[in-house]
Amino acid sequence: MDYVLKCIECGREFENEDIYICDCGGLLEAVINPDTVEIDFKFDGNNLKVWKYRCLLPVKIKPVSLQEGGTALYKVDKIAKELELNNVYVKHEGLNPSGSFKDRGMTVGVTKAIELGKKAIACASTGNTAASMAMYGARGNLKTYVLLPAGKVALGKVAQALMHGAKVIGIKGNFDEALSIVREVSQKENFYLLNSVNPFRLEGQKTIAYEVVDEIGVPDRLILPVGNAGNISAIYKGFRELKEFGLIDKIPKMTGIQATGANPIYKAVIDNREDIEPVVKPETIATAIRIGNPVNARKAIRAIYESGGIAVEVTDDEIIKAQKDLAAKEGIGVEPASAASIAGLRKIADEIDKDEKVVCITTGNLLKDPEAVISVCGEPIEAEADIVSVLEVL
Ligand code: F0G
Repeated sequence: MDYVLKCIECGREFENEDIYICDCGGLLEAVINPDTVEIDFKFDGNNLKVWKYRCLLPVKIKPVSLQEGGTALYKVDKIAKELELNNVYVKHEGLNPSGSFKDRGMTVGVTKAIELGKKAIACASTGNTAASMAMYGARGNLKTYVLLPAGKVALGKVAQALMHGAKVIGIKGNFDEALSIVREVSQKENFYLLNSVNPFRLEGQKTIAYEVVDEIGVPDRLILPVGNAGNISAIYKGFRELKEFGLIDKIPKMTGIQATGANPIYKAVIDNREDIEPVVKPETIATAIRIGNPVNARKAIRAIYESGGIAVEVTDDEIIKAQKDLAAKEGIGVEPASAASIAGLRKIADEIDKDEKVVCITTGNLLKDPEAVISVCGEPIEAEADIVSVLEVL
C-alpha cells in the first residue's frame, strides 16, 4: 500500500515519515493511495481487533501489539428510553488493554517508532496517553518519557505509567504547557513524539470507525468527548476513507462534546469559526479533557462541519450524572471524560430523530479515576464485624 504524509493546509506532500508538522505549520495526515490497497477483510462482525484492518494501516513491520481493539458495543436501552430514542449504543473503549482508546493509536505509533529506528518515545498527557505509551513502549523495548500536569492526573493512569517503566515528570503547569515543552524536548533528544499531533497514532485510532461499521453498519451519529481533538479527527478520517474506497455510502454526523471549563472547539463551532481561541486556564472534573489549546482543532472542526455534526458543552454536574447513569443503569463503568458523550447525548436528545442510530464512544475505564468516584459516591459504610451490625446498616 502506498501513502504519503500530506499537509491539511497547503497540500504539500512528504516522503519523510519522521515529521509531525508541515513547514507552513499545518497538521499532517497519512493519505493512502486507494489504487494500491487490496482490501482483505470483510465487514462481517468477526475477529474484531485493530490489526484486522492492517491493509489500511501505514506500517511495514510486525506490529507491537497487545491485542487492542475488539471492544464491546452495548445497546443502552434504559438510557435510550428515558431520552425517547430507539437506537443508542455505547462502544466501550475502556475495555482496551490499558483501559482506554489510546491503545489503538499506540500500537501503530510505537510500531512506527521502531520502523524509524527510534530508541525512545515521549508524550505529554492528561494520563491515558501516558499509560498506554508506557505499556507499548515496554512491549517494544523503547525508553519512555512522560510529562504530566502535576496533581491533575487521575491516580490509576499515573500508576500505570510508573509501573510500565516510564520516566514520569509532573510539571507545575497544565497539559497545553506540557505538550509545548515535550515537542521541543523530543526534537532536541530525537525522541519519537506520540501525542495525537503524530499522524500515525491517529491512523490506529481510525479503526474505531472501521469496527463500528463492522458491527452495526454506518451509524447516523457518532458522539465522543473532545480534548486534544485527535480522536474525533481520526474517527472521521476512518469513515471518510471507507466512503472514498466505496465500502460505505454515508458518514455519521460527528458530534464532539467538551466540558464547559475547557471548551474552545465548542465555542469555535457555535460561532461558525475554523480556528479556536485557546482557553488559558482550562478546568473540569474530567481531567482527561482538561485541555485549553487542542492541537488537532483544525482537523476536528473540519470533521464536524464536513459531516454535518455539531459541538456540545456539558457541565461537570452533567458529566457526573451521566457517569452514574451508565454505571448504575447500564452496568458500564467509565471515567468522567468518557461520560461526557452520554451527557452530550442527553443535551441534544430533543434534536435527534428517535430512530437515528447513535453510537457514543466511552473512551476510558472507570478504574482509571477512583478518586473522582469516591469524591462523588462517598466512602463505603463501615460496620462492626457481626451480623447484627451488618443487618442494621442494611
Ligand atoms: N477521553 C479520554 C478518557 C481521554 O483520555 C482523552 C484524551 C479524551 C477523551 C479526548 O481525546 O484528546 O483525542 O480529543 N486524553 C489525552 C491524554 C489528552 O493525554 O491521555 P482527544
